[in-house]
Amino acid sequence: MSSTTLDLEATGGPSDAPASPASPASPTLAPARTLRDIFPPVYKTHILNCSYPKWHTKYRSLTPKTRIIPLDDTFVSYLRADGIVLPSDEDQITSLDTDSEDEEEDSDDEEGTPQLDPCVLFPEIHQKIKDTIHELGGKVAPKLNWSSPKDATFMTANTVECRKPGDIYLLFKSSDFITHDLEHAYDECIDEGVPAPEEQPELEQANIPYGLVLRKWFKINPSMEFRCFVRGRRLLAVSQRELNHFEFLEDMKRELVYCIKEFFDENLRYTFPDGDFVFDCYIPMTEAERKKVWLIDINPFAPRTDPLLFSWVELLELPFDGDEAEGRGRYPELRLVKKGDPEAYSFATPQYSTSKLPQEVVQAGLEGEEAIWEFAKRWKDIVGQMEAKDKKAEDDKKVEDDKKVEDDEKAEERK
Ligand SMILES: Nc1ncnc2c1ncn2[C@@H]1O[C@H](COP(=O)(O)OP(=O)(O)O)[C@@H](O)[C@H]1O
Ligand SMILES: [Mg+2]
Repeated sequence: MSSTTLDLEATGGPSDAPASPASPASPTLAPARTLRDIFPPVYKTHILNCSYPKWHTKYRSLTPKTRIIPLDDTFVSYLRADGIVLPSDEDQITSLDTDSEDEEEDSDDEEGTPQLDPCVLFPEIHQKIKDTIHELGGKVAPKLNWSSPKDATFMTANTVECRKPGDIYLLFKSSDFITHDLEHAYDECIDEGVPAPEEQPELEQANIPYGLVLRKWFKINPSMEFRCFVRGRRLLAVSQRELNHFEFLEDMKRELVYCIKEFFDENLRYTFPDGDFVFDCYIPMTEAERKKVWLIDINPFAPRTDPLLFSWVELLELPFDGDEAEGRGRYPELRLVKKGDPEAYSFATPQYSTSKLPQEVVQAGLEGEEAIWEFAKRWKDIVGQMEAKDKKAEDDKKVEDDKKVEDDEKAEERK
């Protein structure tokens, strides 16, 4: 979530010369501009309005079947705590905490129950999650207020599909995206114009009402997921969400744009509290079902939201105001990954750094929990080995390059 430094044209005109007292008229080098400088201000209210529990009440008929379980401080502290203790009423109870001090703190109580066991810590919420998974057909796609733990799916055979509470705890506690929701939800927001904390306490990180979002699992075809950029209540642009080339999408372009625009105009355009936001939708594959566009998520119109096949600079330059009637009739650009696009190549590699893990991690995920625990214990060694391997490859390459230069020089001398 770092702010990106952009190669934007300096406002004072290009100049490599630093300001000099000897030539006061010479133009000065403007400081590099960042995305934040060109973005409309992002307020905490914008972020809050994109919290799933906040918007879902209004749009429940547009999303897959969802239940939201309010989370108390004990649950949130469990998520924040180091180490993972999984519920004792599931197949595997293991603490992955390797810190000896913490181990002491977490040690068994008189009855032999680990104090961080969810069955003991938050029995009601734990039971509620179990019941809700059952109610939703046995499989759910979980998320916290803003994020799903998709960067941690190496723990669960590359999927966010969860069948029991322990699956959710494992994913959440392994995910940096979830940590972001817990610790940094309002980072990079400006405070100006924000209501006083006593008027709207949830605008303080410490008072955010967290909710566990459980969505009935269904088999999504990633080629039909789209991210839609809205500014000034105009749908400006749409990007494929999965960055791979899908031949058939090109022929469907007109129909897809039409479906998405109609969905936006009818359901979101005038009802979402802010004029600027980014929504994700899913269009079912079969023509009969296609009438129904699903709302998957709503994200802030902010640098932290991935612009996918667009760049934020590009999106911010698109005209977004003007004649109302014209706005209604204007269709957004739908951008797809073309055959041979560099995007398709670069994104064919895993999208999150954690997915760039060695095969044994993925394998552990595939083999089930025991293998994961086994693997987790060896994690540090594996990382050490990976780093050593990278360093060796770098060193070898350097030796090879040096030798090549030497050989070239010798060949040159012989000529
Ligand atoms: N009900 C569901 N069933 C199966 N997969 C889902 C479901 N809802 C979302 N997903 C998948 O999870 C991904 C991430 O969900 P999303 O809510 O957009 O999280 P994030 O904001 O972290 O990207 C989606 O792109 C979709 O592929
Ligand atoms: Mg999102």
